[in-house]
Amino acid sequence: MKKLITSKLLGPQALERSQGVRAKEVERFYSNLLDTAMKKESVEISEEAMKLVNNSICHMIMGRSCSRENSEAERVRGLVKKTDSLGKKLFLAAILRKPLKKIGISLFKKELTDVSSKFDEVLEKILVENKEKLDQEHQQDTDMMDKLLEACRDENADYKITRDHIKSLFVDLFVAGTDTSTHSIQWIMAEIINNSYILKRLREEIDSVVGKTRLIQETDLPNLPYLQAIVKEGLRLHPPVPFVLRTFEERCMIGEFCIPEKTTLLVNGYAMMRDPEYWDDPQEFKPERFLTSSRSSKKDEIRDEVLKFIPFGSGRRGCPGANLGYVFVGTAIGVMVQCFDLKIKGDKVNMNEAAGAMTLSMAHPLKCTLVPRTLIPLTSI
Ligand code: HEM
Repeated sequence: MKKLITSKLLGPQALERSQGVRAKEVERFYSNLLDTAMKKESVEISEEAMKLVNNSICHMIMGRSCSRENSEAERVRGLVKKTDSLGKKLFLAAILRKPLKKIGISLFKKELTDVSSKFDEVLEKILVENKEKLDQEHQQDTDMMDKLLEACRDENADYKITRDHIKSLFVDLFVAGTDTSTHSIQWIMAEIINNSYILKRLREEIDSVVGKTRLIQETDLPNLPYLQAIVKEGLRLHPPVPFVLRTFEERCMIGEFCIPEKTTLLVNGYAMMRDPEYWDDPQEFKPERFLTSSRSSKKDEIRDEVLKFIPFGSGRRGCPGANLGYVFVGTAIGVMVQCFDLKIKGDKVNMNEAAGAMTLSMAHPLKCTLVPRTLIPLTSI
């Protein structure tokens, strides 16, 4: 399944093919923000970011947005939120010893069954609609859902896929992709608001590369090195997944430590990315540290980063959605900085972290009032 996700959905070529789908969702993100700005309403950044990410993932998988008429998107978003809070409890249960783990699972059984049957209901409906579309139109396969449904019907397929496999894959993608990207967008926007020098420099970069009449697009990102550096620095200081888990199949040595077989190890990426041994001024938000320096070669920098910069985990179990994550975060931040002045209550955004959350979240979600920078709305072309 992971092979399939990488080749059909998250690999570089697949991402290139689905660029148009995301461009539409970015336009919609901009127009929603513009709408609230015109009404002078305050906006919770994470809510708007979540819609952007969630709709884009939905659209990429199913070749359409989750339908707004039936508020499928809202239901999926609600379920993702619920899964996060449930996941937190299960994570705690999983790192406790085995007997407690069993108690943990049974304590949350009702909640688990409830969420999973609701997910099942929404996804089953979408599956049925897609299958009907496929049967009626006899069209060439276009999206990942079609390909999976084809594989599901094919008795001779390389790997036998069932409807339950498809549904659980979608839940994995929604849950793994939505919260991570949404929280990153929120943390990074808060850092930018708190650092006027960074905001000014980023705006100058966007205005000079993209201009002031066309809306920023993901294809602009490679030409915006300072924006890329800001995103990386945000992920270093506020990694949405602060810990990753690894279970050792065999006994092995790590440095001078002997790790017994079947040990579950918690890797604290949050602490590694703030370790003063590897980072200068580790608590400071300094995007400049990620700008390619003239002193060291690109190769040295990449090797250095692999060892100490791990917001997407690492190795075979590392995040398969890293490239897409960079795209979501980069474009969302780009749109907000290019198009709006963001006003907050008070001088600075409160950067406290919420206690006990599975995903590293803000204790006080970022709320702003937006003021458009120009009177004429930006266009995509
Ligand atoms: C800023 C955004 C994101 C961050 C920081 C992030 C971070 C992570 C991390 C730390 C892991 C665990 C890796 C490990 O154990 O080594 C992970 C796993 C995963 N991520 Fe992401 N992620 C992001 C976006 C996405 C997106 C957009 C998708 C897809 C839509 C995605 C799909 C997945 C999947 C499927 C896994 C599980 C991989 C496995 O268990 O083999 N992620 N992510």
